[in-house]
Amino acid sequence: DKGTYPYYMLKEIDEQPAVIRRIESKYISQEGNVHFDEKLLEQVSKASRIYIVGAGTSYHAGLVGKKIFEKMTGIPTEVVLASEFAYDDPLIEKDAFFIFLSQSGETADSRQVLVRVNEEWQKNSLTITNVANSTLAREAQFAVTLEAGPEIAVASTKAYVAQIALETLLAVAIGRYNQRDSALHFDVAGQLSRVANAIQTVVDEKSQIEKIAESNLTNTRNAFYIGRGLDYDVALEAALKLKEISYVQAEGFASGELKHGTIALIENGTPVLGLITQTKTADHTRSNLEEVISRGANVITITSEKLQRDGDNIILPEVDEILTPLVSVVATQLLAYYTTLQKGYNVDQPRNLAKSVTVE
Ligand code: M6R
Repeated sequence: DKGTYPYYMLKEIDEQPAVIRRIESKYISQEGNVHFDEKLLEQVSKASRIYIVGAGTSYHAGLVGKKIFEKMTGIPTEVVLASEFAYDDPLIEKDAFFIFLSQSGETADSRQVLVRVNEEWQKNSLTITNVANSTLAREAQFAVTLEAGPEIAVASTKAYVAQIALETLLAVAIGRYNQRDSALHFDVAGQLSRVANAIQTVVDEKSQIEKIAESNLTNTRNAFYIGRGLDYDVALEAALKLKEISYVQAEGFASGELKHGTIALIENGTPVLGLITQTKTADHTRSNLEEVISRGANVITITSEKLQRDGDNIILPEVDEILTPLVSVVATQLLAYYTTLQKGYNVDQPRNLAKSVTVE
């Protein structure tokens, strides 16, 4: 039931602080310990490589997860598109461990990979899903649930945030199991609580984002999201969200890569949304934005408090830098939502799309 909300998508965006808190109370004890099946931790902690498999938004959550896993566990992690990996000829190490990310747990592309994992490669696997008794949950060796509550809108929002929260908890649990300093010293409960509060601030200020959508995106044919590192990962998700519901031709781009060709597409007024939440790369992304400004682009910046400068457009409350995707993505979900609403399209049921994709 969407209650007083005009669309499920807005309701699901608004629920995200509660989703994070629900995940915390399910997986973290009073003492701050993270709980997963011991056997699961034992198996992943001895993996020589972790593969994260997903499609669409779940793949994008995997890209963020890779960086969190590598930081917390020290285990090399690869993220793969299910539809590609299902027919690739990868060199799989003996101790590989597979993590499937899927909101629905029914995505045929991901299932095709799981069939190979079970039959051909005979490797251990975990499904992280929103649907406890789904096909992927049943067919993997382990399963954990996202606790996001039913996601009805075709455009995935709260599942992405829940997936990254779960990846963080799992990465910390594995890192601690292996006595890694990066995980032992990471106050995951405190940091996720900060994230929940920060998301709340973003959703409380949605009317400002609505105005930015109206003056910059509603009347455009195309748009770019750019960023580096984790900001690039979010740029890909932000662009998918915008294109799938508002039909703006949006592209997520590594900001440093623009000048190697794609900058040719920048014209007078082309919206370029810059994500700037990472200290290491903030200045570089700013200079890439200067490059597009000088070609006439209409630049909109999404930055964290710490890195903000005069004239920035959307300022996000501070959270640990590795968790900024959980907050910045919410601003981009709202931009997609309001752009679509203003164009008069059905936000929850975009053309040509189904909620779960059960064909390859
Ligand atoms: O249920 P899944 O997470 O496996 O679904 C994967 C994609 O089909 C899904 O994320 C899709 O890209 C969404 N429409 C994105 O909003």
